[in-house]
Amino acid sequence: TPVAACDFIVFGGTGDLAMRKLLPALYLRDIDGQLPADFRVIGVSRAGLDSDGYRDKVAAELSTHVPPAQQSAAAVDAFLRRLHFVSADADGSGNWPALVDLLAEAPQRIRVFYLSCAPRLYGPISRTLARRGLVSEHSRVVLEKPIGTDLQSARDINDQVGQVFAESQVFRIDHYLGKEAVQNLLVLRFANMVLEPLWNASAIDHVQITVAETLGVGQRADYYDGSGALRDMVQNHLLQLLCLVAMEPPVSVTDDGVRYEKLKVLRALRPVTGQLSATHTVRAQYEAGAVDDRPVPGYRDELDGAESATETFVALKAEVHNLRWRGVPFYLRTGKRLDARRSEIVVVFKPVPHSIWPGLESAMTPNRLVIRLQPDEGIRLHMLAKQPGPGGVRLRPVSLGLNFADQLPDRTPEAYERLLMDVVRGNPTLFMRRDEVEAAWQWTEPILHAWHAGHARMHRYPAGSGGPDAARALIESDGRRWNEDH
Ligand code: BG6
Repeated sequence: TPVAACDFIVFGGTGDLAMRKLLPALYLRDIDGQLPADFRVIGVSRAGLDSDGYRDKVAAELSTHVPPAQQSAAAVDAFLRRLHFVSADADGSGNWPALVDLLAEAPQRIRVFYLSCAPRLYGPISRTLARRGLVSEHSRVVLEKPIGTDLQSARDINDQVGQVFAESQVFRIDHYLGKEAVQNLLVLRFANMVLEPLWNASAIDHVQITVAETLGVGQRADYYDGSGALRDMVQNHLLQLLCLVAMEPPVSVTDDGVRYEKLKVLRALRPVTGQLSATHTVRAQYEAGAVDDRPVPGYRDELDGAESATETFVALKAEVHNLRWRGVPFYLRTGKRLDARRSEIVVVFKPVPHSIWPGLESAMTPNRLVIRLQPDEGIRLHMLAKQPGPGGVRLRPVSLGLNFADQLPDRTPEAYERLLMDVVRGNPTLFMRRDEVEAAWQWTEPILHAWHAGHARMHRYPAGSGGPDAARALIESDGRRWNEDH
């Protein structure tokens, strides 16, 4: 069913995110019939374009960022007619009067102000919106991650935006929460009886969370070099995944329950400060190498040879200090320019406490549940079986596998499709509350400080490799290994 009529205003409307994700997502919702006739999309940025120029640019970008099966000239034309463009600046200069006029045509409509620009502009844009009288009770604001670069800057931004928008109007997006595979984690845990009774420290040895990318930093070096993998991925996406794996069952998903439970996990994380960062974290940067047999430059070459202490890879050991997870480490790793694009959660169970086959103790490898998030969403449970044949028992590793595309062949919507519609509908469940974002920073910031103070040195890894050796050492020094069965 279509959502309500809406003016969807994208600040940073000509930027990378808008072109690669936001406009394609709106287009895909449009062809599914979810955008009503009076749904407008208004791009805003400093680019010197008019609405026709914007439509041309968007048409070209859609042709590369929408899957071929969903492209149709008629549908693209219809979508382009929804688009408008205003050239304006965050601080109120440029053609703001044009935006005021456009919005004045439909004062009662829901307004979504999507801030897809540098976080330091979130406050100034909010103030300008208020000064121009554009914010009403039907307005919502969407803040892209990372909000700020540390706890204080996140608080400042939240305060500044909070002077204009009530908390219920603020949608802090983490697109990982919109991924089908990530929402499926909740279903897997809470709609199946076979897992939850084992989902705790008495049966689980440790958990691994990996988000590996083959992409380099490319066009985004300006943003990325001031951020790095810890701020860009761990503070938000990886911690959110950790929260969904570790949280207690919420009372219900229809209220704020999920957000409360995630917050409790963030607050239970053991701080990684000072010296601890040397044993619990690894940071690294990629050097020149090859991805898919194609030579690619190193990170610093992408910055035109500039020196940089920005990490493109992080591995770390996190501990959730609560009753359920006592003594169960969560190993997290993420990086750019690795050998494969692969995101997975691996739950490694404890060994069977007693072997009834004398001498086979060392062959009793523990069960492992591999939850593959992308690409090719699926689940695989590694178990032991008897090697067929006469004679004594020999144990043989086998696995039970489920590939979602085989059993559920519907097109998997992009994360942004779901989330953008949730904003228009006013459903905040999959967005981060202020206290959650700040708790995530509270845990992340000491690691940044410890690195800055020189507690963990920067490692290097060749582009296209599996990451730095130090990341293997991090987990192997605990007598464990990263999952390598894919
Ligand atoms: C973004 C990060 O939030 O997530 C990017 O800023 C990263 O650096 C991207 O590439 C990964 O998202 P996905 O959906 O491709 O896994």
